[in-house]
Amino acid sequence: MIQLLVLAAVLLAGYIVLTQTLFKRSKCKGNAAMAGKTVIITGGNTGIGKATALHLARRGARVILACRNRSKAKGAVAHIQKETGNSDVLYMQLDLASLKSVHCFSETFLKTESRLDLLINNAGLVADGRTEDGFGVEFGVNHLGHFLLTCLLLERLKESGGGRVVTVASMAYRWGHIDLETLSVNKHLGTGSFSWQFFQAYCNSKLCNVLFTLELAKRLQGSSVTCYCVHPGVVRTELSRYVSLWQKIFIEPIARFLFLDPETGAQTTLHCCLQEGLEPLSGHYFSCCDVQKVCAHARDEAVAQKLWEVSEKLCGLSNHCKD
Ligand SMILES: NC(=O)c1ccc[n+]([C@@H]2O[C@H](COP(=O)([O-])OP(=O)(O)OC[C@H]3O[C@@H](n4cnc5c(N)ncnc54)[C@H](OP(=O)(O)O)[C@@H]3O)[C@@H](O)[C@H]2O)c1
Ligand SMILES: *[C@@H]1O[C@H](CO)[C@@H](O)[C@H](O)[C@H]1NC(C)=O
Repeated sequence: MIQLLVLAAVLLAGYIVLTQTLFKRSKCKGNAAMAGKTVIITGGNTGIGKATALHLARRGARVILACRNRSKAKGAVAHIQKETGNSDVLYMQLDLASLKSVHCFSETFLKTESRLDLLINNAGLVADGRTEDGFGVEFGVNHLGHFLLTCLLLERLKESGGGRVVTVASMAYRWGHIDLETLSVNKHLGTGSFSWQFFQAYCNSKLCNVLFTLELAKRLQGSSVTCYCVHPGVVRTELSRYVSLWQKIFIEPIARFLFLDPETGAQTTLHCCLQEGLEPLSGHYFSCCDVQKVCAHARDEAVAQKLWEVSEKLCGLSNHCKD
């Protein structure tokens, strides 16, 4: 009997500690007006992205879901329109695993839309393989595709005034490292065909997200545009769809109990979109709707600058991102 009580107490204590740390919840209190504003959100058809899109649509923004899967995206558009009563929600084709597709998307967008107020670089995946251009798929989609997209849309953000770029990174950046030598040789930031290796490559790509934001903020100084990156929390989404079955069996019960739902997982992204007065914190990393200091390797300005230059070269950009 005593043993059972002790066990229950330990489990309860463990649960409380976890819900105060790794699985902590927060709520966005930002209140910026969204009517008349245009938002692009990559991967807005499911998970954290869809929850973010839903909230912004409810606030009256014009929301563009930039997605790779037409039928999935159309389904999400219909659902968000119905749920919010906002008909200003639309789908535009974007496959971040293809630099050509990023160019096409940007061209179409710049031709058909007159302003851009929020660019939310949300899409991401944990998977193995290569992009159309031969990059490691996590580096290619999570970092490089978004890098090019941001560069191509930056002018429009500046023209619209006061725009923000919000990039969904992850606390997994902590375990990431960047080996630019290897990258320039094999277009891969972390190779491998079994899941442990592609988890490493995922962490590397998320470190890229943090360093990209750091360097972007530097380049945006003196303009009215600011940028932020985010750890959304540990959230129950489709992100683990490509991991192996036995890992799913292990993750699933914990996910049921502890993981945040997508609505809660969207709060820190929304904070960076909607909180007024955040501008002095441009370039920073946010978690639980609050700014957070990152590890030293994610604050290395020299690496951030180098990553930017290498990324420009890999996308075939030369001066697009400079003023
Ligand atoms: N879930 C977590 O615990 C967690 C933790 C930390 C960070 N994050 C980050 O949060 C972001 C959102 O992830 P999520 O958890 O919401 O995962 P998710 O449910 O799998 O959603 C990911 C989205 O990205 C899209 N996407 C993937 N590859 C793409 C490509 N090549 N082109 C265009 N879109 C593409 C997916 O499209 P399809 O539906 O067509 O596949 C989907 O809409 C990611 O950047 C992820 O790294 C998540
Ligand atoms: C797109 O989404 C639909 C519906 O979820 C799915 O059946 C289909 O396989 C997806 N297409 C691709 C190319 O991933």
